[in-house]
Amino acid sequence: MERTYIKDLKNKVGEDVLIKGWVDIRRDQGKMIFFDFRDMSGKVQGVVLPPPAGGQDTLDTAKEIRSEWVLAVTGKVNARPEKNVKVDVLNGDIELEILKIEVLNKAETPPFELNDNTFGINEEVRLKYRYLDLRSTRMQHNIRFRYKLIKHVRDELNERGFIEVETPILTKSTPEGARDYVVPSRLYPGNFYALPQAPQQYKQLLMVAGVEKYFQIARCFRDEDTRGDRQPEFTQLDMELSFVEREDVMRVNEELLISVVKTLAPEKKIQQIPFPRFTYKEAMEKYSTDRPDLREDKTDPNLLAFCWVIDFPFFEKADYSTGSGWTFTHNPFSRALPEHEKWLKNKENIDEIITTQYDVILNGFEIGGGSIRNHNPELLKAVLEIIGFTPEQMEANFGHLLKAFTFGTPPHGGIAWGLDRFVALLLNEPNIREVIPFAKTGEGRDLMMDSPAPISETQSKELHIKSTDGK
Ligand code: AMO
Repeated sequence: MERTYIKDLKNKVGEDVLIKGWVDIRRDQGKMIFFDFRDMSGKVQGVVLPPPAGGQDTLDTAKEIRSEWVLAVTGKVNARPEKNVKVDVLNGDIELEILKIEVLNKAETPPFELNDNTFGINEEVRLKYRYLDLRSTRMQHNIRFRYKLIKHVRDELNERGFIEVETPILTKSTPEGARDYVVPSRLYPGNFYALPQAPQQYKQLLMVAGVEKYFQIARCFRDEDTRGDRQPEFTQLDMELSFVEREDVMRVNEELLISVVKTLAPEKKIQQIPFPRFTYKEAMEKYSTDRPDLREDKTDPNLLAFCWVIDFPFFEKADYSTGSGWTFTHNPFSRALPEHEKWLKNKENIDEIITTQYDVILNGFEIGGGSIRNHNPELLKAVLEIIGFTPEQMEANFGHLLKAFTFGTPPHGGIAWGLDRFVALLLNEPNIREVIPFAKTGEGRDLMMDSPAPISETQSKELHIKSTDGK
């Protein structure tokens, strides 16, 4: 018999069916045994009736079975008597009369109860047994919602003429803001790849390459202190467009954010459309933060208050010595506002130069940021000079980009969303670990794989590295 998914049982009343899945709950009532079964599509209640209605063999097998065993169950779909109907519950009006059970796999007692919501369980235990935690209704919902959101974004960007292009994970360490994760090279002793903090330079090089409309669901790596809205590896919806102004990028993204909410979270209300905008100065004066939480009612879990913050200062005084005393506030690739480009060129009024950077904020969290870029190599050089790069450092770190820009580069700009943050906010989750299938702990450990971990002496030798901790 062909397998029926649990969600489809309601269309099979009166028929014999075969289902496959896990035992969610088992209730032994002596004469009869009740089960809740679970597969990827839902849950259903089943019952093993005592003889003569049911077979003694099946009852004996059922007595042995425990939660989380994996079964193939043959049974008959019956309508429930009126008084037992549960409204608003999937399969609340049917029940499976179990005729035959085949045990496909037994299960040890799980280290915690896999109920609908494992939020109350110690998080380290959940992360260690993440594959079990993910069986819970809430986590199943979260990973499926995340998939749908990514699919929606992919479909919509495809409609708008974007293509998704993959960029390398083994790249080069360049000073862009956060600390890099580095990977030792076996073939080039003493040299290292770096994992990308973001595909920033590659996406700009794709604009040089004539792609014009790029996006990527991109994994990014930053060795920074982890917290509720930060993980060492996280996912961006990254995009870049050629021949655009700031308004164009903001419009596309505002439309996309609204369409995601309307399609996937229709129960949510967007407080204000078009999204309100603040300059950095206004936001700081009015809210003392550049990511204000504008919700009029902070107790409402379904209220989404988006806003844009624009007109950030390009440079700020560095709290460490960069050689010049200046550093960039976001990244070195942004373009200044057109009216400030001459200051950049002349390296004057540095503290007054405003960048084309825009951040998008949701309920007090920065869920994305981007800018129009400097496609003119002379202006990019000016930025790097202001922050104190010598010509040699410039060549070593950004020579490829400066060179590329000499070959006919379209004006371009883009943005990246922190996808994990956006998904967590839409799902009302308190941190991004709840929406990352295999998240790391707050201390950056993968407790399931037990990573980071030492490597063997042979590996260290091959990689020409030696730990200063003597390991
Ligand atoms: P930025 O560094 O602002 O910009 O990153 C874009 C968005 O990514 C999210 N984010 C994070 N999410 C989880 N964990 C982290 N550690 C983490 N760090 C950042 C935030 C942030 O808004 N290349 C530029 C984008 C561009 O200019 O196009 C960039 O990476 O939500």
